[in-house]
Amino acid sequence: MIITVINQKGGVGKTTTAVNLAYVLSKTKNTALLDLDPEGGTTTSFGMKRDKKEYPLGGKSVNIFNVEVFPAHLGLLKLELNGEVDEVVKSIKDVSNNFDILVIDTPPNLGTLAVSSMIAADKIISPVTPQPLAIEAAKNLDGRLQSIGKKAIGFTNLSNKSISIDLSSVSFTNIHIPQSRLFVEASRLGVPAIRYEEIRLKKPKLSRFFEELAKVTLE
Ligand SMILES: Nc1ncnc2c1ncn2[C@@H]1O[C@H](COP(=O)(O)OP(=O)(O)OP(=O)(O)O)[C@@H](O)[C@H]1O
Ligand SMILES: [Mg+2]
Repeated sequence: MIITVINQKGGVGKTTTAVNLAYVLSKTKNTALLDLDPEGGTTTSFGMKRDKKEYPLGGKSVNIFNVEVFPAHLGLLKLELNGEVDEVVKSIKDVSNNFDILVIDTPPNLGTLAVSSMIAADKIISPVTPQPLAIEAAKNLDGRLQSIGKKAIGFTNLSNKSISIDLSSVSFTNIHIPQSRLFVEASRLGVPAIRYEEIRLKKPKLSRFFEELAKVTLE
């Protein structure tokens, strides 16, 4: 199953979602995480550096905390600029065939990599923050989803209550991930926040949100 995390607005929590969802899913499923953002947010969140070499898509992976991570590399920029959507979709599906679940982190745009990730996806999930620009981005995403005939699951990030917008291709769950400095601390250290709190806190605060998200996504 391919799960794509998408929202063309920057900084809404795509990478945070992809990293922690993959970490939670890897406890019960053979899980991979594909960083398709040339900026490499997922890569650094797992303590790695963007690779300066070029690989074919899915050409390099490292197993960290039981998640098979495919880090960002120089080849992604070329694919973003000159890649063909059909070929990228095929490569994504080829990578996913080796796993129960492939989670994909995407860049903050609706370019070749993001669109290919949506087309390849079995499930699309979209974090939305309660700011006007993020909500506007969700509306644009809705239009794009309609044009490719796909549906997405929306949920709220950085808020204590869920937001719900009436869209035709994005249905909002009542999952709302609160603002927490654990996310920032964990990303600075290069570990998923859920992993970090498992080690640091007696009582985890954040895992239930991602467990819920995993459940809703796999339904
Ligand atoms: N719920 C949260 N509470 C506190 N900080 C958060 C939360 N979610 C994300 N952040 C922080 O906000 C910043 C942006 O989040 P993230 O990188 O996941 O967004 P993104 O959508 O992937 O951004 P980009 O589009 O630039 O790739 C990061 O520093 C992250 O640690
Ligand atoms: Mg990101």
